[in-house]
Amino acid sequence: MAMAFPQTRMRRLRATAGLRGLVRETDVRAGQLVLPLFVTEAEQFAPAGGRSGREAIATMPGVERLSLGAAVEEAREAAALGIPAVMLFGLPAEKDEHGSGAWDPDGVVQLATRAIKQAVPGLLVITDVCLCEYTSHGHCGVLRTDGPEPTVDNDASLELIARTAVSHARAGADIVAPSDMMDGRVGAIREELDGEGFAETPILAYSAKFASAFYGPFREAADSAPALGDRRGYQMDPANGREAVREALLDVQEGADMVMVKPALAYGDLIRAVKRATRLPVAAYNVSGEYAMVKAAATAGYLDERATVLEILTSLRRAGADTIITYHAKDAARWLAEQT
Ligand code: PBG
Repeated sequence: MAMAFPQTRMRRLRATAGLRGLVRETDVRAGQLVLPLFVTEAEQFAPAGGRSGREAIATMPGVERLSLGAAVEEAREAAALGIPAVMLFGLPAEKDEHGSGAWDPDGVVQLATRAIKQAVPGLLVITDVCLCEYTSHGHCGVLRTDGPEPTVDNDASLELIARTAVSHARAGADIVAPSDMMDGRVGAIREELDGEGFAETPILAYSAKFASAFYGPFREAADSAPALGDRRGYQMDPANGREAVREALLDVQEGADMVMVKPALAYGDLIRAVKRATRLPVAAYNVSGEYAMVKAAATAGYLDERATVLEILTSLRRAGADTIITYHAKDAARWLAEQT
């Protein structure tokens, strides 16, 4: 018969660090983290901490827009800290209606991918596949304005998104990660990759990507806020959990190798549900707004940054994330190394 108090005392196994370590269920390693990088083609930089080729991002203290050279530097630092992968976002010099900079063989992400793979071959380069940083209107696909409201044309966008993914693979990307939320894009990308000789390139699908207020700082960083309307016509409604699982299962059917839940902090239930349903590796994206909240509170002296970040990362692992994409990656890797 199961015993309760006083025979059972939960505190017995909490008494010392040794005991707590012995029964700890979840761990976080630097090897599970991905560092996002913003690479820019702009030539004017406001100095950030005195390092050249870097521009501070007001909404994300500690994160910078990077020149190609600085991106390589950052990639080296990440690798030295034991972080296995970076995720690239590009800020092109020019934007147009269709986002043609996204698949330009000499576009900013393609150049950065080549430069990083050459300088740090062992570091994985994951590329964000989307059009929103490249379109003049800031939407993630082809915009149609002939109806009563502007809409993003799903099927017309697929070809451009697949073309972008192939151009990333051709530049040397190790994993492509579509974040546009068009229906059918994983299948379209898989087909195009296979047809172009990139059958071995994995797809990390942003499967359950919600229309979230937590992306605010990123849009400032990447200059990708939609000029008109919002993204609710293609990104998910934060109220919907079953639909998130359905999205993930469809991406599995279309050939996704890994799936993502984004944002992370308020979506732990879905990290768990998607993991259980797909049995694929699951990535959680600890997004810009989640980062900015911690930074703001820490700067104000309201929170202990190190303890808060490690607790957040642990909680995402506990929810079921195999991989965590986080702007805290470098700090976290340092703190984790100090702990052992
Ligand atoms: C681009 C994209 C966004 C993010 C990742 N890829 C912005 C958006 O969808 O508006 C958000 C990342 C973050 O907030 O850290 N489609």
